[in-house]
Amino acid sequence: MTILKLVDNSDMSHSSLCVVLSGGIAVLKTLDALRLLMKDGIGVEVVMTRAAEQFVTPLTVGALTQNPPHRDMFDVDQESTMRHIELSRRHDAVLVAPATANRLAKMAHGIADDLAGAVLMASNKPLLVAPAMNHHMWSHPATQRNLARIEEDGATIIQPEIGEMACQEFGVGRLVEPAILAQQVKKFLASISCTPSFLETLAHKHVLVTSGPTIEPIDPVRYLTNHSSGKQGYAIAQAAQEAGAKVTLISGPTSLETPKGVRRINVMTAQEMHDAVFKQLPVDVAIMVAAVADFRVVTTEKKKIKKATLVGDKKKNILSLASNPDILFDVAHCAKRPQIVVGFAAETHNLIEEAKRKRADKKCDIIVANAITKEESVFGADENTVYFVSDDNVVAYEKAAKKQIARDLIVAIAKRIHKAP
Ligand code: PMT
Repeated sequence: MTILKLVDNSDMSHSSLCVVLSGGIAVLKTLDALRLLMKDGIGVEVVMTRAAEQFVTPLTVGALTQNPPHRDMFDVDQESTMRHIELSRRHDAVLVAPATANRLAKMAHGIADDLAGAVLMASNKPLLVAPAMNHHMWSHPATQRNLARIEEDGATIIQPEIGEMACQEFGVGRLVEPAILAQQVKKFLASISCTPSFLETLAHKHVLVTSGPTIEPIDPVRYLTNHSSGKQGYAIAQAAQEAGAKVTLISGPTSLETPKGVRRINVMTAQEMHDAVFKQLPVDVAIMVAAVADFRVVTTEKKKIKKATLVGDKKKNILSLASNPDILFDVAHCAKRPQIVVGFAAETHNLIEEAKRKRADKKCDIIVANAITKEESVFGADENTVYFVSDDNVVAYEKAAKKQIARDLIVAIAKRIHKAP
């Protein structure tokens, strides 16, 4: 089992990075980000590809990072012939920025025909990858395939931005701005840094996660549901498992694979989800991510209802609805209440006020407020924008991968358990 290292880390002055610069104009942004990271005391050691040297000289990189960059696989002047192995060993993480389409392709296929490739293959450290390229190269199926493979292999991706490119075309593929890149790197370093006491808090805990939509049948062909894909909940189940917890995932219908090491129980309706959750109690932590249908039809018909019957001759609505049980509310108010109860609040308006109200009504320790706007699709997407609302505290998380939000939430939960008397 990979144990996710958890930390409350505002001071990262002892962290260090091995940085692979590949050949794109965005290398200039990376150097700016490295400058910001070094200002915060984070050590950097750079490996440059031949292509990167076309955009910036090794001398400049050496001057900026206060260390000559590593360039050659076989360099008699270097003290060691095992540099490709040692480089990752002496740092906390490896960053590839910018990662060109060519570099992504090599990484996806394990090609180690230069020092950068060999370092990445020999690395035993967490990997952060920030792609940057022309928008057609970015959206090319080969690039997307390679990226998916690299992510599957465990890397965390910093998604490129949309905007005008160096080639003067417009689209997705720009490296994020230096300050954002530096911020994402710090967040990543924080999530992998280790304080053993946090690890111990989750190692023997039973964490229950609900995820996905529920489906409320109307008749054999029709049903009520919503757009939840299950991605956010599954990412949380995975992060909890990686933190060493025993995880039970109670899932509505989704097309997702069960995260490794997680026990999954499939349900369809809200009532089934309610019953499955209560069967698991007592648990230590309950995280209710599921988008549970608030209503079901009073009577599910065994035969397909005729259209004329459904709408009625006078077009009046004849479907009678009943309220479903509120699983989160019931879990938080029952005698076997878990030590930590986390709810989500998906809202289109007054996000924070509604989240605060839900936290109080449903007696949760933390509510994750999730903005559902027309402009930004959350359902089914790989990224999310959320706020953690706890006590009187509201912490904003800028747009980030659902996997990263999952890790941050598990860190927040571990901290609460750790602090509890
Ligand atoms: O699945 P994805 O595509 O990744 O999308 C993620 C998400 C948007 C579904 C997720 O991040 C999210 O916001 N989930 C909660 C959606 C929701 O139903 O919110 P709500 O405000 O209606 O419910 C508030 C809380 O009560 C939730 O924790 C919900 O699980 C719980 N609830 C709601 C109704 C009910 N009958 N029982 C419940 O337990």
